[in-house]
Amino acid sequence: MEVVIVADEAAAGALVADVMAHHVRPGAVLGLATGSSPLPVYRELIARHAAGDLSFAGARAFLLDEYVGLPQGHPESYHSVIRREFIDHVDLDRVDGPDGEAADIPAEAARYEVAIRDAGGIDVQLLGIGTDGHVGFNEPGSSLASRTRVKTLTQQTRDDNARFFDSVDDVPHHVLTQGLGTILDAGHLVLIATGPTKAEAVAAAVEGPVSAFCPASVLQLHPYVTLVVDEPAATGLRLADYYRFAAANKPGWQAY
Ligand code: F6R
Repeated sequence: MEVVIVADEAAAGALVADVMAHHVRPGAVLGLATGSSPLPVYRELIARHAAGDLSFAGARAFLLDEYVGLPQGHPESYHSVIRREFIDHVDLDRVDGPDGEAADIPAEAARYEVAIRDAGGIDVQLLGIGTDGHVGFNEPGSSLASRTRVKTLTQQTRDDNARFFDSVDDVPHHVLTQGLGTILDAGHLVLIATGPTKAEAVAAAVEGPVSAFCPASVLQLHPYVTLVVDEPAATGLRLADYYRFAAANKPGWQAY
């Protein structure tokens, strides 16, 4: 796992955009996250596209997760969010996500697994991290081998996400999410974490034991992970100085 500590959210967004752009080409399969963390990445990718420096033509994307029972047209469905924050501003027109309105949720989860597999798998998966250590919506206790399925959000996650809704009571209890095993199948995992509220989860994910109690710790089992954190999110990392030294002295030939 490569841990890169940068000054602030803007620097994190720019660096993660570099990593994502490195994978973008016709035929690429991108894994996209929603929530606040990836927004600086999307802003940066949109700016590069607007400047004529980056085209997503011929690429396609899959979302990590979706609320169950929230109409697709709801402004906070991840179907709506990813279009508003990213897709509508670039030339990426094939985007699939779990259908949280499906009549048969287990069948929809199975369909989504097959769709990802039939696309050839995800080349690069963008991730955020929840304050309780979730990735995707794999809450504490999630099987490290799990596949796309329904999960129940913790109260902590519903409280965290209440800012997107009128009230916490409006935050759905259930979600469809790629499993941790699904996420581990992607070729390159890129996690962005910013702000002090993420410090504890980042430290547990990077330096704690691999445990279902901190689902993001499963990233330790993946051979190609880039984890980009800003200074406030890095305060719990015991080896922060080592990560800084490694990043500053990275051989020129070694790409992200
Ligand atoms: C969203 C997702 C979640 C978020 C996490 C952090 O698609 O999969 O894991 O990345 O809840 O959310 P923010 O970035 O809003 O703090």
